[in-house]
Amino acid sequence: MTPENLFVQRLGPGLDRGGPVRLRPLLPDDLGERYAAWFRDEQVTRFLEARGISAVDALRHLMDGFLSEAWFMYAIEQPQPQPRHVGNLKIGPINRRHATAEISIVIGERDCWGRGAATEAVRLGTALAFGHFGLRKLYAGMVEGNEGSVRAFVKAGWRVEAQLPGAFIHEGVVKGKTVVSIDNPAFVLGG
Ligand SMILES: CC(C)(COP(=O)(O)OP(=O)(O)OC[C@H]1O[C@@H](n2cnc3c(N)ncnc32)[C@H](O)[C@@H]1OP(=O)(O)O)[C@@H](O)C(=O)NCCC(=O)NCCS
Repeated sequence: MTPENLFVQRLGPGLDRGGPVRLRPLLPDDLGERYAAWFRDEQVTRFLEARGISAVDALRHLMDGFLSEAWFMYAIEQPQPQPRHVGNLKIGPINRRHATAEISIVIGERDCWGRGAATEAVRLGTALAFGHFGLRKLYAGMVEGNEGSVRAFVKAGWRVEAQLPGAFIHEGVVKGKTVVSIDNPAFVLGG
C-alpha cells in the first residue's frame, strides 16, 4: 500500500465543496523546503506556537499524530488554476473520552490571505471532525489580537465561548486567550 493510501484509509479522502479551497490528507511528500519556509515567515508565525520548524520536525509531527491517532493533519489546497498546497488544518489533540478536539489552522501562502481560504477550510474541517471522526464539540484558541483567525472561525459558524486572561506571553507581553467552539448538533450520547 502506498503512503497516500494509508493516509486516505484513516483520514478519508478529504472534502471539497467547490469553494476557494479543499482539504485532503497531508502527506510526507508535502513537507519540503517551501513548507519549512512558511514556518520561518515572521508574519505567518506571529500568532503560532510552531516557529522555525524544519521539514524533519514537520514529518515527525505528522507521523506522531497519525500513528498515535491523537491528531490528524490535512492540507488546505487551492484547486485553481492548478492544485496548490497553501496551508494546513489539524484536527487534534482528540479526546475520545469526551468526544472533543481542537482545530488549528495556518495559511502559509500569504498571497491567499483575505480570500476566504481559512473560513472555507474551517467549515470543511468542522464537517470532517463531526462526520468522519464523530466528534461532539470542537475548540480553537487564539492569542488575543489574532482577529483574522477569530473572524474566520466565527464566519464558519463557530462562537466565541470564553476569554482566558493572561494565558500567554506573546511578543514579551502577557495576553489573553480567546476560545472559540462549535457543537455537533447530530451527536447522540451513547450512539
Ligand atoms: C489568520 C488566518 C488563518 C486568516 O486566514 P484567511 O484565509 O486570510 O482568512 P479569510 O480570508 O477566511 O478571512 C476571514 C475574515 O477575517 C478577516 N481577516 C483576515 N485576516 C485578518 C487580519 N489580519 N485582521 C483582521 N481581520 C482579518 C477577513 O477580512 C475576513 O472577514 P470579512 O469577510 O468580514 O472581511 C491567516 O491569516 C493565517 O494563517 N495566519 C497565520 C497563522 C495563524 O495565525 N493561524 C491561526 C492560529 S489560531
